[in-house]
Formats: sequence, C-alpha cells, structure tokens
Amino acid sequence: MTLRPIPLLALVTALAAGCNGRSAENPPQTATVAGVHEHSAGSEHQFPDPQTYAGRLDDPGRDDWQMPEVVVERLDCRPGMKAVDLGAGTGYFVGYLSESVGGRGRVLALDADRAMVEAMQARIEREGLRNVEPGLIAADDPGLPPRSVDRILIVNTWHHISNRVAYAEKLLAALGPGGQLLIVDFTIESPHGPPPQMRLTDDTVQHELEAAGFEAELVEAPLPYQYLVAGRLP
Ligand SMILES: C[S@@+](CC[C@H](N)C(=O)[O-])C[C@H]1O[C@@H](n2cnc3c(N)ncnc32)[C@H](O)[C@@H]1O
Repeated sequence: MTLRPIPLLALVTALAAGCNGRSAENPPQTATVAGVHEHSAGSEHQFPDPQTYAGRLDDPGRDDWQMPEVVVERLDCRPGMKAVDLGAGTGYFVGYLSESVGGRGRVLALDADRAMVEAMQARIEREGLRNVEPGLIAADDPGLPPRSVDRILIVNTWHHISNRVAYAEKLLAALGPGGQLLIVDFTIESPHGPPPQMRLTDDTVQHELEAAGFEAELVEAPLPYQYLVAGRLP
C-alpha cells in the first residue's frame, strides 16, 4: 500500500504526558521530515527528551518482559500482509514485524511525534528494513485509507490516544477482510509504564473496541506487565 501524503498543517501545541510519566509543553512545529510521509498534522503527545526516552524504549533489558516475539506471534501476521505499527516510537517492533510479513509484505511504522519518526527512520536504514515505511501521523487520525491493511499493532500507546472510540472506528475502517488489531498496554499493577492514573484496564480497552464495532477479546500471553487485547472485524 502506498500511503497518500497529506499536506502538513500547523502542528498543535499540547501538554504531553509520556509513558515515563513526565510532561512537557511543546512549541508548534511546521518542518517536514525528509523522506517521511506527512500523513496529517498535529501531535497531542510529544516527548520532551527524545534521546532519553528512546534509550528507555530500546533498553536491551526490555526484551525480557516485553517479549516481542510473543507479541508479534499473537498478532498472527503472514507473509505478504500489510501490517501497521501504530505509535511505533523508535521502531522497537519493526524488525520483528518486517520479518513476519516477509519481502512481499509491508510494514507501516507510524507515530505522531516527529523525533520518534526520525529515530525510526534511522533504525530502518541502519537495519536495512526495506519493507518498512515510516510515517508521521496526526494525533487524532492514523491516516490509513479504508480496507488498506491487514494487521495493526499498538504497543504502550493506546492510553495516549484521546477520543479512543472514534479513533478505533478509523482503525476498523482501515482493516481489510480478516483484519485484526492488537493492543498491548500496561496493567494497573505493573512496575513499568505510565503513572497509574493514565493506565487503562483491559476491560476498558475491550469496551472501547466493542463500542467502535470490533469484536474484542483478551489474548492469552506470558507477558508479566501487560495485557493483550485483540480486535477483529465482526
Ligand atoms: C511508549 S511509546 C511506545 C513506542 C513503541 N510502540 C514501543 O513499544 O516501543 C508511545 C508512542 O506513541 C506515540 N504516540 C502517542 N500518541 C500518539 C497518537 N495519538 N498517534 C500516534 N502515535 C502516538 C508516541 O509518540 C510514542 O512514540
């Protein structure tokens, strides 16, 4: 799939709260990222110190509890599929997704934060991931055409999204027949993750997906700090 670049509008200044619990006010931005599609404008969630934050996302110790192979296995990608990593950050998952869809498949690694997309692009080049395409998206719109993708992975990002039911409706529309969404996020009890007041229970996530028209269910997985919720087309 080729995503249609959308002209960049003025980015929104917003108070941001990251997974590390820090907040910061960010100035409006209008510059574009070379080589990156501008899907739309605006970001409600930007991270004040991308380098520090990126270091946390890519901390090698994360693999022990994040279990990326298990997560991608539960997403059930197959060769040739088009998969989206939504809120892809520095691209921690893109190598796993790239492998799971193979050379005929495609991975769209999307994020609403410009610094994250730049970090992701550097990683894609460094690792030679030719089937992965980074993209800067608006905070309120993934910018995906109707029935254009097969799988959507959202890790540690769903709690950042505002108006989640409306957002989930857009994701539902973007999935083709047999399409599937997988949301992975921190449990209330987890020692990792955002401040407790930002967290969502798996029940809440399931209800949000159902309200948007998905069939939702909790997916079994051995991850110690996170739940997995799948959303399928009815
Ligand atoms: C905790 S990080 C997770 C990154 C990646 N999924 C991972 O697991 O390493 C959350 C990411 O979501 C992005 N994000 C926050 N709100 C977003 C939104 N509305 N749309 C797209 N990305 C968003 C942030 O910029 C950040 O990169």
